[in-house]
Amino acid sequence: MDAERVPPGIDPTKAHPSRRYNYWLGGKDNFAVDRESAEMVASAFPTVGLAARENRAFMRRVVGYLAGEAGIGQFLDIGTGLPSAGNVHEIAQGIDPSARIVYVDNDPIVLVHARALLTSEPRGRTAYIEADLRDPEKILADADLRRTLDLSRPVALMLVATMHFVTDDHDPYGIVRTLLGALPSGSHLVMTHATGDYLTPEEYAVSVEANERSGVPFRLRGREEFARFFDGLEVLPPGVGSVVEWRPEEPAEDRPAVEDVSMLCAVARVP
Ligand SMILES: C[S@@+](CC[C@H](N)C(=O)[O-])C[C@H]1O[C@@H](n2cnc3c(N)ncnc32)[C@H](O)[C@@H]1O
Repeated sequence: MDAERVPPGIDPTKAHPSRRYNYWLGGKDNFAVDRESAEMVASAFPTVGLAARENRAFMRRVVGYLAGEAGIGQFLDIGTGLPSAGNVHEIAQGIDPSARIVYVDNDPIVLVHARALLTSEPRGRTAYIEADLRDPEKILADADLRRTLDLSRPVALMLVATMHFVTDDHDPYGIVRTLLGALPSGSHLVMTHATGDYLTPEEYAVSVEANERSGVPFRLRGREEFARFFDGLEVLPPGVGSVVEWRPEEPAEDRPAVEDVSMLCAVARVP
């Protein structure tokens, strides 16, 4: 992106997770500061691009499962990121054309591209809300959300590669509890989260340090910390584990190594 023609509301001097992720996925919607931050992380964790692609592939598999087998027709996707191949509504409405999707992100650059997220099938509906996950009540009260989703019917809450940007001082568990508290029985929670569990202590220390220098607040969480987000929910098979191993479509020997992706996931049903 050309830093001289910056859309209003966007600060091209500060790295942002959505633009950095876009760079790792091979996109062009990023500034020099995002690329520098991305390269800093990649110097400590060279397979971060693979991790981003595997995370995205997991998301596509899960939405396919939810819209199909699980019969979920509504999605609240918080931390949407820049539109990329296989957005949630494209997958869900490819299975159920009447599916409804609300996208939420706090990076104004996503709003610039939100038109691509609003290409709903005529029988379904999509909406985009610019809001911060750390203020979940505001998201839940949003008029566009209320117009798009029927909160008396099951909703899939998607927090895919997003909660690791919520540091402990912002009450990450309380945020998820508040969001789930507004959703009825039969709703689902889908989450992926970066972890240091598969790394050696040296690799872990290098990753934490690189993330600290990269200018984006970030919190790796271990399996137990991650599993706490699912307390009181019915975690679906295969349980809490690597995104690489969640209902893969290829034989295990063709899948990447879990340590090269270093991303935990789980999908759970609200009882
Ligand atoms: C790594 S991207 C993941 C995109 C997409 N969910 C995926 O998995 O392909 C994380 C997204 O979360 C958004 N994000 C980070 N912190 C956020 C916050 N506090 N509120 C809303 N969105 C946030 C970023 O702007 C970014 O677009």
